[in-house]
Amino acid sequence: MKYSYVSHLYCPKCGKEFHTKEQHQLCSCGSPLLVDYNLDELQKNFTAEDLKGRENSIWRYHELLPVEDRENVVSLGEGMTPLVSFTNLGEDMSLENLYMKDEGLIPTGSFKARGAAVGVSKATEIGVDELAMPTNGNAGAAWSLYSARAGLQSTIVMPKDAPEITRTEVSLSGSNLYLVNGLISDAGKIVGKAVKDYNLYDASTLKEPYRIEGKKTMGLEIAEQLNWKLPDVIVYPTGGGVGLIGIYKALKELKTLGLVEGSLPRLVAVQSTGCAPIVQAWENGERESEFWNDSSTLAFGINVPKALGDFLVLDALYDTDGCAVAVDDQAILDEQEKIAGLEGSFVCPEGAATFVAIRKLREEGWIGQNETVVGLNTGAGIKYPDTVQVDPEMLEKNDTL
Ligand SMILES: Cc1ncc(COP(=O)(O)O)c(C=O)c1O
Ligand SMILES: [Zn+2]
Repeated sequence: MKYSYVSHLYCPKCGKEFHTKEQHQLCSCGSPLLVDYNLDELQKNFTAEDLKGRENSIWRYHELLPVEDRENVVSLGEGMTPLVSFTNLGEDMSLENLYMKDEGLIPTGSFKARGAAVGVSKATEIGVDELAMPTNGNAGAAWSLYSARAGLQSTIVMPKDAPEITRTEVSLSGSNLYLVNGLISDAGKIVGKAVKDYNLYDASTLKEPYRIEGKKTMGLEIAEQLNWKLPDVIVYPTGGGVGLIGIYKALKELKTLGLVEGSLPRLVAVQSTGCAPIVQAWENGERESEFWNDSSTLAFGINVPKALGDFLVLDALYDTDGCAVAVDDQAILDEQEKIAGLEGSFVCPEGAATFVAIRKLREEGWIGQNETVVGLNTGAGIKYPDTVQVDPEMLEKNDTL
């Protein structure tokens, strides 16, 4: 049996096709490229039973990942994060079947490890030796650390306001780290020029096709963890939107393979009121978003003023009867505290945004009381030590309580 059933790359805008053995970035028309698989052939050789006893990581789905030779896999054991039942928070929202997929429990502390594991593995396979990328922090941390493991050189540019811990992670990996006095879009311009000037592999969001494949595994895992019965709603904090595009792609592939049935879950993109280009586009029924000026939010991972793959995110929302919701920073902080107090989980601000949106959609009746809802907590709260300010009482050595 083949390790991967990858067939080719294709452009979702103009339909042009490319080989997966060569290095490709965007299509000549400017669109991101997507990966396709020989699903008909795979269907003949594969059932859910085949997954039994496999390693507890994203690589259990290797047939649906683009790395063709197992030898090229660069892994730190990422994947198969817990799908935790949130009974108490669900009760607080009058929702009977609420789950959190906890991406805080993964190498580098955020779901970005999935994209990095697959992206770096495939980069190795196609002969890349040096890559560069702009980042809001977590992706840079993951890609630089996985690059170090693979022996690749990396250059990372991040906004000076990105979570400080991610600077440390990048720097410790031996990557070339630069801070920019601006946003991820400004970092992207600097990387774009460096890529041309120094002939580097551009690992920017969606400028290489394989990161989506890594993030896709969140969708595969949700389906497997729910015993191939899909939830009604999946809610995702959306910046570049790669995770949402990936989850949607995963669910469609599982459907083609006959592993899941029925309609797909309604997908929900959550953004901040301080940066909501996808929400605005969705509200106006547009298929692409406008650049969001002067964006700002404490949920730093979703501070993306214009996503290259916005049209793919919007397609996923329209095709699944989903929606897009903006939430404000104060509600994020309140929800983060509520989740810690009711469920014992310290989620990242982006993850908290997800649950604010679920609460809002439940209140509006868009989510029904009996529906099964999965919210993504995309990273560990402990990666953002400064988001929450606490002021405990200081005791002297001999004081009593
Ligand atoms: C914790 C966290 N959540 C969500 C996102 C948004 O990810 P995506 O690009 O898949 O929309 C990011 C991106 O930096 C992030 O770091
Ligand atoms: Zn094209």
